[in-house]
Amino acid sequence: MSDKLVYGTISSREAMELEEKYGAHNYHPLPVVLAKGQGVFLWDPEGNRYFDFLSAYSAVNQGHCHPHIINALTEQAQTLTLTSRAFYNNKLGETEKYITDFFNYESVLMMNSGAEAVETALKLARKWAYTVKGIESDSAVLIFCEGNFHGRTIAIVSASTDPDSYDGYGPFLPGIVKIPYNDVNALKEALEKHGKSVAGFVVEPIQGEAGVMVPDDGYLKACYDLCKQHNVLFIADEVQTGIARTGKLLAVDYENVRPDVLILGKAISGGVLPVSAVLADKKIMMTIKPGQHGSTFGGFPLACVVAKAALEVVKDEGLAQRAYELGKFFREQLRNIKSPMLKVVRGKGLLNAIIVEPMNGFEAWDVCLKLKEKGLLCKPTHRHIIRFAPPLVITKEQLQEAVDIITSVFDEISK
Ligand SMILES: Cc1ncc(COP(=O)(O)O)c(C=O)c1O
Repeated sequence: MSDKLVYGTISSREAMELEEKYGAHNYHPLPVVLAKGQGVFLWDPEGNRYFDFLSAYSAVNQGHCHPHIINALTEQAQTLTLTSRAFYNNKLGETEKYITDFFNYESVLMMNSGAEAVETALKLARKWAYTVKGIESDSAVLIFCEGNFHGRTIAIVSASTDPDSYDGYGPFLPGIVKIPYNDVNALKEALEKHGKSVAGFVVEPIQGEAGVMVPDDGYLKACYDLCKQHNVLFIADEVQTGIARTGKLLAVDYENVRPDVLILGKAISGGVLPVSAVLADKKIMMTIKPGQHGSTFGGFPLACVVAKAALEVVKDEGLAQRAYELGKFFREQLRNIKSPMLKVVRGKGLLNAIIVEPMNGFEAWDVCLKLKEKGLLCKPTHRHIIRFAPPLVITKEQLQEAVDIITSVFDEISK
């Protein structure tokens, strides 16, 4: 590992000290500072190169600084960045058309962060419940799954079952029912009990933050059918699973489910700007009237051109198919690693995780530190799970190189 400064003006040590001193301590980062990114690689200020196996929690599916997206960004940045929605702009409509065609919906509402898009979907579901389904005012129920992660707002953490997310932030939003994930019967019972007042069922097709929890085949379709029976909106949070990550454009595509409300974020901008979106058909979307929801930046011209370019990359480079094939290869390779510490390999496409059993004083965090030392960055999710989610532009050779690094770390630790 080199110590001489190559990128930027401050060293890794200085950068970490500054964050420690002046920033809120709401994260616990791995001790690595990143100064440059290109494709599947990141570099620290001292010029050490790393494979990115987190992809900013699946936001950088298209790879770091993808030239097509960066060209769109820089050109638009010199022309028009923000107008607010007080006026029309000449990029929003064009992008809305592109996104709705791309995902086959009648309309889209653009926001910024993933959490805002989830909030938007919850508001939309409630509006629909009162104005279309005819639920009595202020009594709509939303059903969520245990172990979910939908973001950090008060409404969203009200639905969380993770104390780190909700503890100390009460009082919480009423009208929330939590049921076990991957349990069709639990949804059936909840709908039978609350059905008439349920606005929507909110679900991640794979629970990413929970540790890449892949539900049984048929779960999503069965839940969708139940929602239809009870006139309840099926709301899919594909902020992490969407946009080619799991080997299909959307993870719900594995079961040919078309959500009533689709939530996207992260990779819709290729990790370049915070852009998110909620898609629905007009009978649902148009229940929100002018002035009833919005955001100063939501759908701003710069975001629009970036999102369009980012989706063009997904299509032009066949990223869903790449993720599908490389994901299979990757899981096979991981399953070949012979280590008593490595317990389970699971995932779809290039959203994968391993379960690490503590051994010789090493836990998942220590494995990540060792991987970092050997040039591969990833982060534990919960104590014993490590998620592997490289940019989808990774080549088979690069993936093999990464597998060799992972193998060598497990070999060392298990000795
Ligand atoms: C499934 C899911 N929904 C929503 C979010 C929140 O997105 P953001 O961090 O952009 O607010 C995340 C973030 O990890 C997520 O994984």
